[in-house]
Amino acid sequence: MAFYVSTPIYYVNDAPHLGHAYTTVAGDVLTRWHRQRGESVWYLTGTDEHGQKIMRTAEAHGVSPQEWCDKLVEEAWKPLWKHLEIANDDFIRTTEPRHTQRVQEFVQDLYDKGEIYKGSYTGPYCVSCEEYKVVGELLEGELCPIHKRPVEWLEEDNYFFKLSEYGERLLEHYDANPDFIQPASARNEVVQFVRQGLQDLSISRSTFDWGIPIPWDPKHVIYVWIDALLNYATAVGYGSDQAKFDQTWPADVHLVGKDILRFHAVIWPAMLLANGLRLPGRVFANGWLMVGGEKMSKSNLTGISPRQLTEHFGVDAYRYYFLRAIPFGQDGAFSWEDFAARYTSELANDYGNLASRVAAMVGKYFDGALPAAADAGPAEQAIADGLSAAVAAADKAIGDNLDFAGGLGAVFDFVRQVNGYLSDQAPWKVAKDESPQAQARLATILYTAAEALRGVAVLLNPVMPATSERLWVSLGAEVALGALADQRISEAADWGRLPAGVSVTKGEVLFPRLD
Ligand code: MSP
Repeated sequence: MAFYVSTPIYYVNDAPHLGHAYTTVAGDVLTRWHRQRGESVWYLTGTDEHGQKIMRTAEAHGVSPQEWCDKLVEEAWKPLWKHLEIANDDFIRTTEPRHTQRVQEFVQDLYDKGEIYKGSYTGPYCVSCEEYKVVGELLEGELCPIHKRPVEWLEEDNYFFKLSEYGERLLEHYDANPDFIQPASARNEVVQFVRQGLQDLSISRSTFDWGIPIPWDPKHVIYVWIDALLNYATAVGYGSDQAKFDQTWPADVHLVGKDILRFHAVIWPAMLLANGLRLPGRVFANGWLMVGGEKMSKSNLTGISPRQLTEHFGVDAYRYYFLRAIPFGQDGAFSWEDFAARYTSELANDYGNLASRVAAMVGKYFDGALPAAADAGPAEQAIADGLSAAVAAADKAIGDNLDFAGGLGAVFDFVRQVNGYLSDQAPWKVAKDESPQAQARLATILYTAAEALRGVAVLLNPVMPATSERLWVSLGAEVALGALADQRISEAADWGRLPAGVSVTKGEVLFPRLD
């Protein structure tokens, strides 16, 4: 069975900003981590291309919605994920036939089972959310609470899904599976919401046509959220490739922003229950990146492009920063000052300098051939133990709990421990003594530091793959141990894997000084 992780599929009305990249990088780190555990993994992302929001954007630019989507996907979204080293296994677009046909089949099935009926609806609709709002939640009686823009009153004949009949079963599922919705705050919010009672859900629109037609009544298109949620099934072979579906389904983790939690934790599981499909393992709601106390967004003109930051800090530091600085699940603010401070102290000083100092000393004192640890004692044992502890803590935090900040904290505590060890042992002083005892000590210190770095390279590979690769090559590990991607997390703590005698070279600086 594959460990299957999804991101939300993004609306392509605009180019991606930091908030979108935040979730996609988190999913990439999580899936790289599991690959490095040796598991088979499926990482899915994609784009949500139907609905009024996209249609209006395309109209405003004087092109067809399909042309608009094609352009944005090819020129903005896919290139950004490549730039950020996102290793997704698939990219689904909701305008692809592999999706649209299966969505029609799914909805037809629900109709045939009597889960869908025709009715009419009037209510306030937010086009930015693509969602009917409840009158009570509007700000000043007319503004969407998320977008702070006026809602539109819609009145139309719609098809409805009998969502109201699923409340009890959903509550039972949340009860029996306490980890189904994370973090706990998100879970509580959903449980409370469902306890208040669910209303049936309008799942079609007839006032515009940019969507997938309702198969039995093509004057209607399927509501964009029903269409969108089904990407998680259509992309892994639902209704088309049973073998692949069986190997992948259900998702282990749906990563979502907290604003789209109800769709994923209420509507989506109800749709699956209605059609007899297994429910996902977990829905994890991440917080928002904030600007001036508001959710960062292009429509508020606060959307910063990830490239503005990667140009300055590099891709690896970018991948690291947001996951390290903001506890996953909480909101967080971004600032250049904070990013620059962490870059300099954690990445350049603690980590980068350690790597370059060790390589330089092996070069200087041993002509670049890694010496054996001739007289390892308690100080060295403490480093080996520290690595074991870091591996265990990071594996649990990142791999199991999606606590990226905690996991990275554990790895960087270990990096600081190794720095402390070098300051205490002061190999540059030991080197001045040419006695055999001193030389044995010097060899032991440098072996210990290099071996510690081997472990760090493996642990940081899912987060900062390019930097880990450089370190891996500089330690001579590529030749001795093979590709970094094949190193298992569980082996990272096996002390002594790096054989003495490998050729250590001083590669490029891992994190150059900032301008
Ligand atoms: N298309 C729907 C999702 C369908 S999933 C079946 C959608 N798209 S979106 O492009 O508007 O948002 C996609 C994701 O980006 C959401 O999870 C949203 O929370 C996230 N973010 C958008 N702005 C954000 C921040 N400022 N901070 C963090 N994430 C935010 O909703």
